[in-house]
Amino acid sequence: MSVLSGKNILLGVTAGIAAYKSAFLVRLLVKEGAKVKVVMTPSAKEFVTPLTLSTLSKNEVFSSFTDDENENAQWNNHVELALWADLFLIAPATANTLSKMAGGTSDNLLLACYLSAKCPVYYAPAMDLDMYKHPTTQQTFDTLESFGNIQIPAAYGELASGLVGQGRMAEPEDIVAFLEKDILKSLPLRGKKILITAGPTYEAIDPVRFIGNHSSGKMGYALAEASANLGAEVLLISGPSNLQILHNYVEVIRVTSAKEMYDAAHTRFGDCDVAILSAAVADYRPKQVADQKIKKKEGSLTLQLEKTDDILASLGEIKQEQLLVGFALETENELENAKTKLKKKNLDLIVLNSLNDKGAGFKTDTNKITLITKDNKVIPFSVKPKTEVANDILKHIIQQLHA
Ligand code: CTP
Repeated sequence: MSVLSGKNILLGVTAGIAAYKSAFLVRLLVKEGAKVKVVMTPSAKEFVTPLTLSTLSKNEVFSSFTDDENENAQWNNHVELALWADLFLIAPATANTLSKMAGGTSDNLLLACYLSAKCPVYYAPAMDLDMYKHPTTQQTFDTLESFGNIQIPAAYGELASGLVGQGRMAEPEDIVAFLEKDILKSLPLRGKKILITAGPTYEAIDPVRFIGNHSSGKMGYALAEASANLGAEVLLISGPSNLQILHNYVEVIRVTSAKEMYDAAHTRFGDCDVAILSAAVADYRPKQVADQKIKKKEGSLTLQLEKTDDILASLGEIKQEQLLVGFALETENELENAKTKLKKKNLDLIVLNSLNDKGAGFKTDTNKITLITKDNKVIPFSVKPKTEVANDILKHIIQQLHA
């Protein structure tokens, strides 16, 4: 996945031979985690079938204001479609459609969507080289640029006519890379490296047993994905968790014990701008780890435990320019305890979860947090899905980075 993950993309397909490539384009966009809806000009259907594109996008494909063959035809609302989109990509964009876009013509659903769209519009021209070079086409490009539309330049190469020159639609991979790069430019965490710890740690007792906790890693994984979607380069140091994350900007290091998490965090801390420690690290581990499985015996068994190193506190001791964010999971005197942790561990921000709050804590999909800043501001939030909580936390981090 990439910065396109979760984005609503309206793909406009017009009647050029490159329309066959729009099937690959839909597939790539979906693979990157985008939600794709397709709007076609009526003639584009002669180049690629709506069935192909609806199967790949898993959405209905739109090409006219009404569904002519259906007696109970419904109005396909271009305004709704255009407003749904986070970005409108027209690929391939023929000379005909581009010139209508520049002139304000609205004689099909795709053009009506274009005129209604408030989101960024990208277009990938596809035409023969002489059409491409023609002054009227060049003028169209200038007009569209003046509207703020973004051109994904056509490539040089062999054209459907057999001629060789500029006019070939950019390859689907290049279109996706172009979009990602362009979106990245405007993201608030671009260029920032964020280290995140997540999940539980397991402290071995013997080769088959451990001391662990109920943390699922959901909060840390949500933070990793949200940070990457905001343009950050993320290093996720994860304890044992069933969760997976596949994102171009997230590197995952899997660890088991507090010691392994400590080592990974210390190796990479110097290189990061922000560290968010959301892992539920074991505070104690067995002093001795048995080489062989401990056999059952008469009477009770006593395990001697020793303290693990506090990763967060140790990073607080060595931090320089980094912004350090910790979590506090409390069951009593919540605010007071969290404020003490913030100070003691030399943090810039602490995220308080209280186990007394409904919908907060381990394993749930929701969380209820209170943020406490270094200058003692207390900001409570309502119960929300962990994905939204992640964005609330990141919003504050972004504010502190720009303060
Ligand atoms: N933490 C850590 N390393 C540890 C223990 C905790 O990095 N060995 C981090 C957690 O990731 C979290 C913060 O410290 O960001 C607070 O964890 P929490 O369990 O609430 O507090 P503790 O400091 O362990 O104190 P206590 O258990 O006494 O509340």
